[in-house]
Amino acid sequence: MGSGTTLIEAKLLNRHAVGVDINPQSVSISETNLQFQCETISRIFTRNGNATDLDFIKDSHIDFICTHPPYANIIKYSKGIDGDISLLGVEAFLDEMQKVAKEAYRVLKKGKMCAVMIGDVRKCGKVIPLGFRMMECFLQAGFVNKEIIIKEQHNCHSNDYWEKQHNNFLLLSHEYIFVFQK
Ligand SMILES: C[S@@+](CC[C@H](N)C(=O)[O-])C[C@H]1O[C@@H](n2cnc3c(N)ncnc32)[C@H](O)[C@@H]1O
Repeated sequence: MGSGTTLIEAKLLNRHAVGVDINPQSVSISETNLQFQCETISRIFTRNGNATDLDFIKDSHIDFICTHPPYANIIKYSKGIDGDISLLGVEAFLDEMQKVAKEAYRVLKKGKMCAVMIGDVRKCGKVIPLGFRMMECFLQAGFVNKEIIIKEQHNCHSNDYWEKQHNNFLLLSHEYIFVFQK
């Protein structure tokens, strides 16, 4: 859920939606951001919980999933909330994303889509293809890949710093949106 962008778009598009985030602060920020008037009949729910366990949603009940997980521990979204996958290194993060993919597959209706946005990371001079590694978690859970969209990344706060360092590497300036189908 983060700050609620997806729920705001759902409200504007007249879609019923449920947003989940492990961080209670994200829930309250999203609820504040959702307090705007518009002509809508949508019902929007927020939930403080773990995307690895959506036990409050029945099997094959959801029409569309849109999720934007942390990029392993590149940005830490809390200071120690149990279950926050932004506190995990790459391998542990992927283990949790495998559970998220399995749960996403369970709650989605057959034939419907699950969109996931993620970027790669650079650590100790190497690129870690986090996007493609995470994609494998969703394929293993049973999804098929319908689209791989490359999204240009603008306004990266750290670009100015790295451009002045004269390093011999290219800055990562794209993210992926994987569109999976159940
Ligand atoms: C990249 S941000 C999402 C940003 C969002 N797209 C927006 O527009 O604000 C990732 C979010 O995942 C949440 N998160 C981390 N671990 C989680 C988990 N296990 N279950 C649910 N949410 C989690 C973090 O608290 C953070 O708000």
